[in-house]
Amino acid sequence: MDKVLLITGGSRGIGKATCLYFLEKGYRVINLSRNNLALEGVTQFYIDLSFPDSIHQQKELLLSELKDAEKIVLVHCAASHNKNNILDIVQQELVKSLAINIVSPTVLTQIISSIMPAGSSIIYLGSSLSEKALPNTYSYSTNKHAVIGMMRATCQDLSGTGIHTVCVCPGFTDTEMLRHHINNNPNALFAITQKVSFKRLITPSEIAETLFFCSKTPAINGSVIHANLGQVET
Ligand SMILES: NC(=O)c1ccc[n+]([C@@H]2O[C@H](COP(=O)([O-])OP(=O)(O)OC[C@H]3O[C@@H](n4cnc5c(N)ncnc54)[C@H](OP(=O)(O)O)[C@@H]3O)[C@@H](O)[C@H]2O)c1
Repeated sequence: MDKVLLITGGSRGIGKATCLYFLEKGYRVINLSRNNLALEGVTQFYIDLSFPDSIHQQKELLLSELKDAEKIVLVHCAASHNKNNILDIVQQELVKSLAINIVSPTVLTQIISSIMPAGSSIIYLGSSLSEKALPNTYSYSTNKHAVIGMMRATCQDLSGTGIHTVCVCPGFTDTEMLRHHINNNPNALFAITQKVSFKRLITPSEIAETLFFCSKTPAINGSVIHANLGQVET
């Protein structure tokens, strides 16, 4: 059976771990990102998601890569995470973040959903900040809340197709995004782990395993799944 993982943001972090996990499970992988994921079994599309038109430009090539697929798992993993707040964010920065996190996933879903066989799935990466906000996370929190809406609306619109949708919300996961966000500061890292009931970061492969579970579990269609090792509430 020709099974394909089509993922955005597979070049590093959670996305790369997800590509490795699905490859192990016998999937072909197609990755969309600006940097290459140089792994056997991976077809790379160089796409900057801040320009949604670039997906349209590669549409025919993308569809030809998928024409024999009997199952497609589409994972919207890429995201941008800039520090900003309502008082200082400039319009262009917000528009760019919406292009990466909302508009491009919409375009990609529109193009792919029409050829997805029943049994396929569309999985979105949310965040703890999909359901709450912290100071100075204006564009990220706004986008991640919208990701849940996008997943739920897609679930409604694809009713009857046999395609299921899920939004997975990771907690603190050990990737470049997290380390960059805290400037790799060991004190900040320690403080973060104290907010996790297991007192450690999540590994990217743990999230990959969760994504794989979601891809083969249609019963959770339309759900928001938290994968955060238990956050300590204070
Ligand atoms: N790490 C965490 O603690 C955490 C927590 C909650 C949610 N998440 C979510 O999990 C997902 C993966 O995060 P991560 O931690 O693995 O992040 P990461 O290590 O920073 O990786 C981000 C990925 O997004 C891609 N990307 C970013 N901007 C792009 C653009 N303009 N065009 C195309 N691709 C772009 C990057 O690829 P290129 O640079 O090659 O383009 C990269 O592969 C994100 O949706 C994030 O919000 C992460």
